[in-house]
Amino acid sequence: MINYSEFLYTHSIDVAMISLILAGEMKYHDDMQWNIGIGAFLHDIGKVFLPDLGIHESGSRNENDKLYLQEHCKIGANSLKIFDFSDVCLDIVLHHHGKTEKSGEISKEAQIVMIADAFDNLTSEQMNRSAYTIEEAIDILKMDEKKYPQNLLLMLERIFSV
Ligand SMILES: [Fe+2]
Ligand SMILES: [Fe+2]
Repeated sequence: MINYSEFLYTHSIDVAMISLILAGEMKYHDDMQWNIGIGAFLHDIGKVFLPDLGIHESGSRNENDKLYLQEHCKIGANSLKIFDFSDVCLDIVLHHHGKTEKSGEISKEAQIVMIADAFDNLTSEQMNRSAYTIEEAIDILKMDEKKYPQNLLLMLERIFSV
């Protein structure tokens, strides 16, 4: 079993790689791919400022878990504001679990990272369960049509199916 910070580090790299593969497939320009890759790598940076409460990003959630998920997005985006990161990076960090505001669509770039994040969480071993296979993970994501755009999931399926 790996510890929390090790998981966070490898998870960040995984999410950046998966997001970049999707962004490449979507034919984003190099500078936008750079922004998506950096935003994806830093998406969970807010967790560094919060204690490890053993809350994982997938699975059922109570109100405390939901609050924690919202907070790490806000703290992460705020912590990056003093640096010279693009608006795209900040938007990805803030919205990678959906809108923190009540309504509205999240950007395509945040959607890419949201899917990459959920996919990596599902295909990784967690404290309360073993890892899902790639096929199982995609099937689970497909069940939440409102949250995960089907065209991105089909792309993910095409890329990762062997
Ligand atoms: Fe997160
Ligand atoms: Fe994450």
